Amino acid sequence: MSITSMSHLAVTCALLLVTLAAVRWHIRDSYKVDGFSQKHVFITGCDSGFGHLLARQLDGKGLHVVAACLTEKGAADLTAAASSRLKTLLLNVTDSASIGRAVESVSKEVGERGLWGLVNNAGRSVPIGPTEWMKLEDFTKVLDVNLIGVIEVTLQFLPLLKKAQGRVVNVASVLGRLSLTGGGYCLSKWGVEAFSDSLRRDMHPFGIKVSIIEPGFFKTAVTRLDLIEADLRRLWTRLPQDVKDSYGETYFDDYVKAQNFSMGLLCSPDISKVTRCMEHALTARFPRTRYSAGWDAKLFWIPLSYLPSCVFLKGMKFNIL
Ligand SMILES: *[C@@H]1O[C@H](CO)[C@@H](O)[C@H](O)[C@H]1NC(C)=O
Ligand SMILES: *[C@@H]1O[C@H](CO)[C@@H](O)[C@H](O)[C@H]1NC(C)=O
Repeated sequence: MSITSMSHLAVTCALLLVTLAAVRWHIRDSYKVDGFSQKHVFITGCDSGFGHLLARQLDGKGLHVVAACLTEKGAADLTAAASSRLKTLLLNVTDSASIGRAVESVSKEVGERGLWGLVNNAGRSVPIGPTEWMKLEDFTKVLDVNLIGVIEVTLQFLPLLKKAQGRVVNVASVLGRLSLTGGGYCLSKWGVEAFSDSLRRDMHPFGIKVSIIEPGFFKTAVTRLDLIEADLRRLWTRLPQDVKDSYGETYFDDYVKAQNFSMGLLCSPDISKVTRCMEHALTARFPRTRYSAGWDAKLFWIPLSYLPSCVFLKGMKFNIL
């Protein structure tokens, strides 16, 4: 055989192997666990957005959903939109006693089966903005919900999850891979990534699987521009005059305008892209470690996170969120 035909053969074999591996991966990825009707899932932050939609979606598939809401209204809206199988309860993830009460009522609900799925979805974004405008309590307000809340809810639910050899699904963000703005949000999401990775390792011997969801930008309460702008105005207004002067008179308005423009472009209204990832993490035989939800996450933000920092320092005069 000539050298040319041998190298053709090698290339063909390599392509065939890659194709077979991809096909095998897709088939393996599509296997589901059995017995949805025997499985209970507890979701935090079900007042609106990802949590609300996921609760309805899993309820529609026949799973037993216990949906935790922060407000009575959130709970009532969800009850009205779901089957009678779905239960709601009120939960404040920054309040240990409130988490304890949730564990108690979920424990009664699941009995000896234990809890199949815990979805740590509750989160907040504001205060978010330039670091210098923040006080320490602006950071802790977000960290308490998005990181400490996730840790405490997980710790208190672990005994129920061990019983079922269940799953933990933690909602991080592409901003857990790429820190684009000041305040507690990016810090909390980096923390969720790290917490989830250590939890996965530590709970592996007990059959508990841990997945991380990394949504790109979606239209939810977390990206509501009126709330973000109102809070930014609060931060800006209380700054000492000399600090305001260092930014310049037009900075605030320009910042808000730039933020409105980029968020308008970036935020996708199709939040089912995110809840489909969550559902896969809960119902697939082989859940993935990380899910990048949305094409912006897969093709833009995650690749961008590997670029050198000079790209950001030159390219981004204004934060986008
Ligand atoms: C949640 O609990 C914390 C700590 O107990 C409390 O400071 C906060 O006001 C509560 N938030 C809501 C919305 O009830
Ligand atoms: C930014 O968007 C919010 C919400 O859509 C709106 O209330 C606000 O007026 C906008 N601000 C500017 C400066 O365009």
